[in-house]
Amino acid sequence: MAKRPAVKFVCTECGEDYSKWTGKCENCGAWSTLVEFKESLASKNPKSGQGSELKFKSIKEISKTGDGKSTRLKTNISDVDDVLGGGIVEASVNLIAGEPGIGKSTLIMQIAASIASSAGQVLYVSGEESAEQVAHRASRLGLASDNLGIVSSTSTDDIAETILKLKPKLVVIDSIQTMACSEVSSATGSVSQVTNSTHILTQAAKASGTALIIVGHVTKEGSLAGPKMLEHLVDVVLNLEGDRYGGFKILRAIKNRYGSTSEAGIFNMTEKGLQQVDNPSQSLLAERQVTDGSIVFAAMEGTRPILVEVQALVNKTNFGYPKRTASGFDLNRLNLLTAVLTRRTKLDLNDYDIYINVVGGIKLSEPAADLAVAMAIASAAKGISLKKDLAVAGELGLSGEVRRIPHIDKRVAEVKKLGFKGLLAPSSGSKSAFIQEATSLREVLNTWFSAK
Ligand code: TYD
Ligand code: MG
Repeated sequence: MAKRPAVKFVCTECGEDYSKWTGKCENCGAWSTLVEFKESLASKNPKSGQGSELKFKSIKEISKTGDGKSTRLKTNISDVDDVLGGGIVEASVNLIAGEPGIGKSTLIMQIAASIASSAGQVLYVSGEESAEQVAHRASRLGLASDNLGIVSSTSTDDIAETILKLKPKLVVIDSIQTMACSEVSSATGSVSQVTNSTHILTQAAKASGTALIIVGHVTKEGSLAGPKMLEHLVDVVLNLEGDRYGGFKILRAIKNRYGSTSEAGIFNMTEKGLQQVDNPSQSLLAERQVTDGSIVFAAMEGTRPILVEVQALVNKTNFGYPKRTASGFDLNRLNLLTAVLTRRTKLDLNDYDIYINVVGGIKLSEPAADLAVAMAIASAAKGISLKKDLAVAGELGLSGEVRRIPHIDKRVAEVKKLGFKGLLAPSSGSKSAFIQEATSLREVLNTWFSAK
């Protein structure tokens, strides 16, 4: 008689497992996130004494036999190749995550078609749309190739079988939340379905030397719907983020077993699909009006510098508690910067609403954005605009000091390229005369925003 799979409970937020259900996850503190999880029989533990000894091989020996080398499938979309570290590695498992409607299916279809026409057979499996719908979109985007097959299926077992028989170069699974395997009885999209399906598909792909791209939707909070543990099962995790109603979409690797995670690709959604943006700074600044509350921040997107406009609006609070909202910037960080401004400079913001907007759907997460945001608030509060040909970058400490930031030379180069006359930043050891040195927030405000 077949042994029944062991049942355990897994937190969908952090992936911690428990033998009993509880209302609160002890590990991450989230409520009602524990769901039933059946371990598949395929992953049961081996008994001791059953294994055989593994061979010791040095790195040199391995690279000599060619085992360590992996060929890459070039997508010929240079930003995607850069983010992946040179293309999709053969037999690798790649997860692309993003909010619904951000453009995952579109980007993956472009990648699939490109690989089909250069490397060989590609199978696009859609569990969300019919084959006709997908084919219609592909032909509208001008992406047709005899090597590109499209099927509609939600059965993990069927897909795994197809991978083993057909041995395509690449298989796309859109999306993993719609896949289900017969061995697991829980509902489609549940933790056990998602992890077991990924497991089965991964095994089939590794066995036949097929690369996999798995699409995964994320929840509003930005975590992968389904367990965090999906990230551990795959080789590469890419994130496609941005504003779904316009603006740039940014592709980033958050995990990459075959390359760095420092590159980022910048795309724009057009009627011809996602198009790479070659000069993002220029298009981000194209509609800029130099008014108070507008500051140009020399940001880094991966290893690439990009100039972003940060806007602030400061209004007297009408009633009660002052409002603070931020789009494209962390709200906690905004509160911290407001506190620093109030305490370390003469600016009193206690009775003022503050709104921050980062133009173009860009999300700023690096600490180097602090100075630009603080200056935008000060500029808006005082009604004085900064010189139009000055860009800003710097991190702020709690005592209002401006701290060093990385990649200062790249930022300077981008600022120069776009015709600015200077960069207000901490010197960071760079001797460039282009840098207007900033040491403390108070001194910066006195120099640039004092009424004449
Ligand atoms: P889609 O790739 O289906 O998003 P996801 O798979 O991440 O859910 O597409 C997202 C949106 O992009 C869709 O609502 C319509 C728009 N779009 C275009 O503007 N141009 C195009 O060429 C395509 C294919 C989609
Ligand atoms: Mg889709």
